[in-house]
This record gives sequence, structure tokens and C-alpha cells, in this order.
Amino acid sequence: MRPMCVCRVIGVVVGLGMGTNPVNARDIHSYSNPDVAVVRHLDLNLSVDFATKTLHGSATLTIERKAAGSLVLDTRDLTIEAVEAGANPKTLAATKYTLKPADPILGSALEITLPDDAKIVRVTYKTSPSASALQWLDPQRTAGGKHPFLFTQSEAIHARSWIPLQDSPGVRITYDASIEISENLIAVMSAERSGTNIDRIRTALFTMKEPIPSYLIALAVGDLKFKPIGKRTGVWAEPSVVEKAAWEFADTEKMVEAAERLFGPYRWGRYDILVLPPSFPFGGMENPKLTFATPTVIAGDRSLVALIAHELAHSWSGNLVTNATWRDFWLNEGFTTYGERRIVEEIYGAEVATVEKRLGFLDLKEELASHKPIDQVLHVDLAGRDPDDGMTRIPYEKGALFLATVEQAFGRPAFDTYLKGYFSRNAFKSITTADFVADLKASLFATNPEAAAKIDLDAWIEQPDLKGTFTEPESAKLAAIGRSAEQFAGGGNAKDVKTADWTTHEWLQFLRAMPEGLTPAQMADLDTAFGLTQRGNAEIAAQWLVMTVRNGYAPADVRLEAFLTTIGRRKFLMPLYKELVKTDAGKARARAIYAKARPFYHPIAVDSVDKVVGKP
Ligand code: BES
Ligand code: ZN
Repeated sequence: MRPMCVCRVIGVVVGLGMGTNPVNARDIHSYSNPDVAVVRHLDLNLSVDFATKTLHGSATLTIERKAAGSLVLDTRDLTIEAVEAGANPKTLAATKYTLKPADPILGSALEITLPDDAKIVRVTYKTSPSASALQWLDPQRTAGGKHPFLFTQSEAIHARSWIPLQDSPGVRITYDASIEISENLIAVMSAERSGTNIDRIRTALFTMKEPIPSYLIALAVGDLKFKPIGKRTGVWAEPSVVEKAAWEFADTEKMVEAAERLFGPYRWGRYDILVLPPSFPFGGMENPKLTFATPTVIAGDRSLVALIAHELAHSWSGNLVTNATWRDFWLNEGFTTYGERRIVEEIYGAEVATVEKRLGFLDLKEELASHKPIDQVLHVDLAGRDPDDGMTRIPYEKGALFLATVEQAFGRPAFDTYLKGYFSRNAFKSITTADFVADLKASLFATNPEAAAKIDLDAWIEQPDLKGTFTEPESAKLAAIGRSAEQFAGGGNAKDVKTADWTTHEWLQFLRAMPEGLTPAQMADLDTAFGLTQRGNAEIAAQWLVMTVRNGYAPADVRLEAFLTTIGRRKFLMPLYKELVKTDAGKARARAIYAKARPFYHPIAVDSVDKVVGKP
């Protein structure tokens, strides 16, 4: 367990949006002081060394001075080799700096003395092999098995473990990067590719001209191939995966078009998808221009592509209009979950979207029941905590339900006009919950006081549980599946369940609707009829495997171990390990499996699983 952090009591004002309330705009998860000097541009120069599992090079920061004082950057586990400052890149000279003691959650503040004329600061440094954002994979952990792989995951506060910067979503920067790779591998970033120099060593060049928060800086290096999908869309993946990925994500270009109709112009040029090796700890990450995705969404039937709709929707909610602090995370994820379902509705129809809304609502009820009241609040208090721990389904689903409720009160046409306006008024800004409320009141509530009277903003945003009034999302299709599950659990036969045209989501609902305890005969009947233990679809397999642990169904033991030692997606790991540790025998098994699997998980997943299973 990570000890609680000694977060600063006095923070700094970083929300630069209108009407920002200084108390709420403080980013308690950054040591940086953008009120003294704010970083506007990053020139990143790194070489990738797979042998030592380190990145080595420099970050050259262009700063804008606001007041007298030193520059404070966020770092974690970085070895600082030199710090220089000057009026321009050619006149840099060594300057005084102090690396403060490390806080377990926030890392170490790097305090840099600024000469009067300093506008440029260069930090030369090296990352640690255990940097929290980085995962270094040995060749056997990749699809091809021949080349190593590196990828980053900067959200929420991991960028500081590979780049010294103001690691706060309230600070936006542009960047240029030059990445040296000694092997014959390809580097990709959340940026435009601006060239490759191949001399003795290969150097890939990138540029990001739109100002973004630090958590969206991303890099991956591996044996990668590109295949176009549409005119501004395509997939990057290992050679053996790229065709499957292009087929699975064939609707991506249509999704971008639908999203533009709904939310306004796509402001990022290209939209590509990078498929990572299976240890990627998330389903997807909305790195601008280049979504990072787990290979477990490649189900072979396009049934899990709502995840792409989700990451794409972040191109507006999150990447264009950004949460100013991690308290405001629901602005990123609630808007995006709402937007994801609007895109799904445009492309796959209202019934598919309805199924997802209903499933989201069921998730929300479950999550609310398993969290303390303070964590049921959208505008959640994260004082003293790692923002990664605030990542429940609540900001996603309660946020989406809130926005759907506002839509219902004002009608879709008025709400859609509001949404487009919200994205364009706040484009390339980082805003707080208070900024959003001010914007909503001024631009939507003012147009229709009668509808506005139906929305209790305080209940939705500041209160636990579901205190606002709303219409519960229902789905006739899922209700029918619930009845099939009941019939089976009540003594029916698996072969009588009509599953022929079920989608992944319907299968998941069937399994979720089962009672906690099933007999060994019932488990065997389900498995024989539907081949659940051998399912290639990771969502269905994960749900089934939880049931097999709960019910002590031994024929799935081998698959469970194979699953946990080859897939590192935190969403699947957590329920499985939590189910295992409920019994003594299960605990022993969890420990044995985890001892093998841990070296293969990303540091972010390791941190979460350690809390459940303990460090081996
Ligand atoms: N931005 C999140 C992932 C994230 C959140 C990383 C917080 C680190 C801290 C991403 O957009 C996301 O929500 N991914 C989901 C998939 C989505 C379909 C709900 C995931 O990975 O499960
Ligand atoms: Zn998201």
C-alpha cells in the first residue's frame, strides 16, 4: 500500500478558464507553480535504451515568467544530470537547482533558480527502469516475439516519471520531440510525425502544435506497421496484428465524421489507433492523434468498438476541453461516456446505444454500492490520495447520466447546440467544475428557465448517491436476457437458452445476471453448451472466469492462469484477483499466479494488484 501523501495545503491557481474559483482550481497533485513561470513549449530529446530500460536525454522548456521566483517542476524517480537556463537555447548556462525529497504519491519537486533573463530551461536527465509511466517489454511479451517494446501511460500523474515538467492538466504545452532508437524499430507519439533521420542511429521526429496537458504526452517503440483505414484514420500494430486491427476498426472514419456532426470540427488532423501488447493496463487511452488500445478489443466481430468511440470522443471532451485538476475528472470521463453513446447511436442505431446505457447504469448502481459516500460525488475530494485511486466507474456513469438528464430536460436539439458551443468556447482550455457550471448556466439554463428548474446541479455534482431526478435507462433486449438467465438458474437447461444472435454485451449480461452460487452441474452445463472456458473474447472470458473462481469450477483453472499471465488490463485483473483472495485456498493460488504474472504487468497495474494480493 502506498502511504498517504503529504499533499500541500496551499496550492496554486492553475485553471485559466473564465470564472475560475481559486480554491477549486488548485491542483493538489502537482508541485508546479505556473503563477510564477508557466511552461509553454517542450523540446524533448531522448534516446531509448532497451538494454538498461532507460530513457536518457533532455527536456528543454520554454517558459513565460509571471512573477519573481524559481521554477518548480514535477519529477518522479528521475536522475537529474544538469540544469541550465538562459535567454535562448544558445546561451544556456548551469543554474542552481534542488531536488526535494520524494513524496510517495507526488514524487519530487525540482526547484530551479531562474536568472533574470531566463526564458529557456534545459534539464538533462535519465529515467529509472521502474518509472511508473513506462513499460519495457522483453520480446517474448510481444505478438512477434522477436523485438522488445516500450510504451508510456502518462495519465493521471505519471508523465513526471519520464519528463520533468509542470505535470498538471491545468497547464497546456506544445511539443517537439526527437527520439533516438538504436534498434531497427519504429517510434510513434501523440503528435504529428515530422520526419525520420536514418544515419548511424535512427531518430524519429515529432511535433505537436496544439497545446495539450502533460498527461497526453505519449510514446511507444516497437516492431510496428501502419495500415490506413480512411483518409485521416489508420492503425499501428505489430505486423501480425495489423490486418486484424484494421478490420476490427473499419468504422473509425465514419465515427470521426459522426463525432464532427455532433460536437464540431475534429481539431487534431489525423486519428490513428495504436494496438499495444496485452500488458497495456487500460482498455484505451486517448493520446491525441493516436489512441492507445488494448489488443483485447479485437474480438473478431467488431463488438467492442464502443471503446474506440469513447477514446475518439475524448478528442473533444478531455483533449480539447480538459479537466483543470483531477477533482474535475468527471468533466473528461462523464462527457466522454455520454459522447461515446451518441457516436454509437449514430453508427449502430438507438437499440445498441440503449443496451450500453442500461449496462452503464447497472455498473453505476454496483459502483455506488461499493464506495463510501465521499467517493460517490462527481466533484470528488482527492486530498491526500493518488488520482489513480479516484478512477471508479462513478465519474463515467454518473456524469453521463447527468448529461443525459440535462439533454432530456432541454430536448436534444437545444442540448446539441449547447454541446457544440461548449467545445468551441472552451477549446484548448483547462476548466474546473465551477467553470463548467458557469458556462452551463449562462449558455443553456438562461435560454429555458423552466427546463433549468428541473435540474438540481448541487445534487448531481456535489452530493453522494443519485440525489437528482432522472429516468432510469431500460433495455427490452437486456430484460429478456435477464429472464433467460433466471430460467436457467432456476433449473433450466443451457441448450434451451436462445443465444444465436447474441452480441458480446448480451453474453455479458447473461453471465452477470446469474445468481452468486451455481451448482457444479450448472457450471458444467453452461461450459459444455457455450464453450465459455475457451472463449477468445476477453470480456466474456473474464466474466466467466470470475464465476468459475466463485463457484470453484476446476476445469477452468488452467485457462484462468493463462489469462492472468498473458493479459495485463487492470479492469480484468482486479475482479479476478479480488474474487480469488476471498478464500484461503484462493489466496494461495492468487499469490502463486501473481508471482509469475507480476513482472509482465505495467507498473500501474502492479500498484493496484499489490493492494489486493500483496507484494510477492
Ligand atoms: N482516459 C481513460 C483512461 C485513464 C483514466 C487512464 C484515468 C488513467 C487514469 C480512458 O479514456 C478510459 O476511460 N478507458 C477505459 C475504456 C472506456 C471504454 C471506458 C478503460 O481503459 O477501461
Ligand atoms: Zn475515457
